[in-house]
Amino acid sequence: MGSVEDLIQSVPKAELHLHVEGTLEPELKFALAERNGLDLPYAGVEEMRAAYDFDDLPSFLAQYYEGMSVLLVEQDFYDLAMAYFTKVAGQNLVYVEMFFDPQAHTTRGIEFGTVITGLRRAQADAQRRLGIRSHLIMCFLRDMSAESAAETLEQAAEYRDWILGVGLDSDERNNPPIKFRDVYADARSQGYRLTMHCDVDQENSVAHIWQCLNDIGVERIDNGVNCLEDEALVAEIKRRGLGLTVCPISNAYVTDGTKAAAIKSMLERGMRVTVNSDDPAYFPGYIADNFMRVHDEVGLSAEEVVRLVRNSFEISWLDDGSRAEYLRRVDAAAAGSAT
Ligand code: ADE
Ligand code: ZN
Repeated sequence: MGSVEDLIQSVPKAELHLHVEGTLEPELKFALAERNGLDLPYAGVEEMRAAYDFDDLPSFLAQYYEGMSVLLVEQDFYDLAMAYFTKVAGQNLVYVEMFFDPQAHTTRGIEFGTVITGLRRAQADAQRRLGIRSHLIMCFLRDMSAESAAETLEQAAEYRDWILGVGLDSDERNNPPIKFRDVYADARSQGYRLTMHCDVDQENSVAHIWQCLNDIGVERIDNGVNCLEDEALVAEIKRRGLGLTVCPISNAYVTDGTKAAAIKSMLERGMRVTVNSDDPAYFPGYIADNFMRVHDEVGLSAEEVVRLVRNSFEISWLDDGSRAEYLRRVDAAAAGSAT
């Protein structure tokens, strides 16, 4: 009988909560800075890592946006995404729905097309060379205006076929879901799939999750673990079959722990909870590392690992045929590891 650790490594996995800009490792930052003729305010990679000092979402976001200054031309965005794909191929990641933050670049004078063309080329190469399929989810920055989000949606029109859905990220404090009701309604009418962050332990989290359901009509929730504070909310999330994309290692950095026990509790309640990595260059740990962290803290059975992995494919926005094929591969890997 294979161990749970082996199963976590070998089972084909999906990732649904991954900010591609959050995969920018210090080594690549230095390489891109050199290529682009930029000076970074650190002597080297170790000094940069040591300066990552965040204990809440805003302190993380400050470093996250500052780090993007090295991303200037299309090749930089290609290299960013390709480095991520190459890394997670070694953890048996086979499918990813990947966030990107256009406004974090367009506000620096980088064209929307530069960003998405580089990412798109990496996606094609990752599929061909590494067998990893991916889709893009365009996030609006919630600490910018609703008008800016609407402009971003307009800029995306030219690339409509390259973007599967829209999301909402950045600082949630005083930026509730309803601020973006109109732009989400517009995105829905254009056929985008809809998700939103409800980050862990944010002010008014439960009210924000209700808004996601009742005012926005999201199809899943990024994080959202505070739903456990409201039985009626849990029941409604279950009734609608909404998935939650939880990020344990990230949670440990920006809140008071991984929320592994909450993940376990959501599993026990039959909720469609998943494990994801968020910004793995800043919250160190890619997909398998996040599963391992939950296992180390609360102990996962093989069945629970398989449930979490199946949940990811089930709540993904894959077409039904591809979903069924991936689920067959998950079950085959689980059966192989049990013998
Ligand atoms: N942008 C990148 N990572 C984020 C997170 N964890 N929460 C909100 N916005 C983000
Ligand atoms: Zn996130």
